[in-house]
Amino acid sequence: MITVLLDKNKHDRNYFDCGVYALNNYLRVMASQQAKKDNTRTFVLEDEKFPERIIGFYTLTMTPIDLTALPLKLRKKHQSASSGGLIARLAIDQRYKHQGYGEWLLIDALRKLLLASETVAFPLVIVDAKEGAIAFYKKFGFTPFNDTPNKLFMTIAAVRKSLVELL
Ligand SMILES: CC(C)(COP(=O)(O)OP(=O)(O)OC[C@H]1O[C@@H](n2cnc3c(N)ncnc32)[C@H](O)[C@@H]1OP(=O)(O)O)[C@@H](O)C(=O)NCCC(=O)NCCS
Repeated sequence: MITVLLDKNKHDRNYFDCGVYALNNYLRVMASQQAKKDNTRTFVLEDEKFPERIIGFYTLTMTPIDLTALPLKLRKKHQSASSGGLIARLAIDQRYKHQGYGEWLLIDALRKLLLASETVAFPLVIVDAKEGAIAFYKKFGFTPFNDTPNKLFMTIAAVRKSLVELL
């Protein structure tokens, strides 16, 4: 399996339905526009039999780090850091849920962010989770920020360690 950049001329964005309107709508309306402006990148996992169908997608960008919402130890360690890598959105089409694609897509997103961090260093990966997905991210090692439970983080050092362990 491999993710590719969203291509509005190839991928049927209207077919995709993860059950969350805001995420469906982002993919349909915003994702290509935002990529064209170099604000975000959206990667999709295609159905091998029907490549125009999107099994799932994620969107990556950078975001400011709110140091005050970090545990004291990390706040001190990263006090000169300003930005983190952001998994702004991640969703699986309802027809493909509970088959391991969400986990696979999350690992793929973390690999891309880890690779990016080796060139333009940043100490944290941050995710904006919809309410029902907070437990999903906790399961994979993310910790909620003190003040915003639906915003979670993982240090890039922890990402590196867990990806190495997967090899
Ligand atoms: C959350 C989501 C990405 C999970 O995708 P999925 O393909 O169904 O998940 P997987 O099959 O890869 O599940 C991997 C593991 O996470 C667990 N899991 C899946 N969804 C979960 C959730 N919402 N909460 C807690 N755990 C969850 C599974 O039980 C599985 O655990 P196991 O290996 O111990 O059985 C998907 O349900 C989704 O797109 N939801 C709607 C959109 C959304 O909320 N996106 C995230 C916020 S932007």
